[in-house]
Order: sequence, then structure tokens, then C-alpha cells
Amino acid sequence: MKRVEFLKQFVRYPTLTCAIAESCTELADLITDTAELSQASMVVEFGSGTGVFTEKILEKISGNTQAFSLEINEDFVKETRRRCPEAIVYFDSAVNVAPYLKEAGVEKCDRIISGLPWASFPEKIQDKILDTVADILEPGGKFLTFAYVHGLCLPAGRRFRKNLFSRFQRVLATRIIWQNLPPAFVYCAEK
Ligand SMILES: C[S@@+](CC[C@H](N)C(=O)[O-])C[C@H]1O[C@@H](n2cnc3c(N)ncnc32)[C@H](O)[C@@H]1O
Repeated sequence: MKRVEFLKQFVRYPTLTCAIAESCTELADLITDTAELSQASMVVEFGSGTGVFTEKILEKISGNTQAFSLEINEDFVKETRRRCPEAIVYFDSAVNVAPYLKEAGVEKCDRIISGLPWASFPEKIQDKILDTVADILEPGGKFLTFAYVHGLCLPAGRRFRKNLFSRFQRVLATRIIWQNLPPAFVYCAEK
């Protein structure tokens, strides 16, 4: 998707998109490498956008690992499918993930990779999606999500961080990818 098209999505759905450009390759590599995908059996992606993480997920999982993505913006669903024709992408919200796991023949997953804009979500939605994450993740499973550095100055960004540390046994934050627009890092939370 051209940068101007991405910007149009931001103008149409600012709080859902919450970014003026797709994540850069370095951030996509960082989040998918930190997830140690070669050891995963079921990978769920939330908020695929243009498919920048999806592409890396499919590259890094092993042959018998299952993966699918949920995206709430139909134009982004189409763009992820165009970029990654082999990807399974559902046009639905992250909160509705359970039936898609059932369809894949499982109740839980061992990796969740999120591109969701946590710092722009109201408290209720943030809590609801984090409850969903905790519900569908196996013990020992990993939840990976990125955060913009400037989000740490926003009340919702700080609330998300606090929520993450209170719900998960172990939370690590990676180095910052300064070349991302805007600069971002990854949280890796283990259940
Ligand atoms: C900041 S963009 C990130 C997109 C992509 N992962 C990337 O890094 O470039 C956030 C994405 O999350 C999607 N999104 C927002 N709320 C969602 C929800 N409840 N369920 C699924 N996707 C959602 C938006 O439509 C958008 O594509």
C-alpha cells in the first residue's frame, strides 16, 4: 500500500489506525524474532494492517505451525491478503478471536503478535482485549506487542504498561527502533 493510501486510512480511522505509516522492516523483524516463532505451534496476529508483520510471521514459522490474523479495517484485510496470498486473514475484531481458534482445531495459542494501537484505546477496550489475550494464551505462551516511545507519555500508554506488568509473570521491553515512524519498541510478556 502506498504511503498516501495508509495516511488516508489514518484520516478515516485515526484511533484504530493510530499510525501514519506501516511499521518498518526492522520493527517487524524485532517483534517476530523476539517471538521465537520456530518454537511456536499456533500463532495469532491482531491488527495486521498492511501485512508487514504477517509477511515475517509466515517466513519464520515452521511447516506445521498454524497462523492467522484478525484485522478490523476491510481495506487493510485486502492489503494483507494481497501482500501475503497464503495468509489466513479474518475481517473481525481481536475480541472475537475464540471461534477462529476453534475453527483451527484448538482452544488456545502459544504466540500472540499484536499490532494494535493500545495507547489510543479507551480503558474498557484495552481491558477487554487484554482479558482476551490472557484467556487464549497457553501457560508459558508469549504475547508480543509494540509500543510507540511517545505513547509512554500518554495516560493510556502508561495504563497499558501497568496493566501488562500486573497481568503477566514476566515482561521484557526491547531496544528502541529509532528509524520506525514514530520510534517504537516491543514488549514481550510471558504467561
Ligand atoms: C498501528 S496499526 C499497525 C498495523 C501493522 N501491524 C503495522 O505494524 O504496520 C494498528 C492496526 O490495528 C487494527 N485494529 C485496531 N483495532 C483492532 C481490533 N480491535 N481488532 C483487530 N484489528 C484492529 C487497525 O485497523 C490497524 O490496522
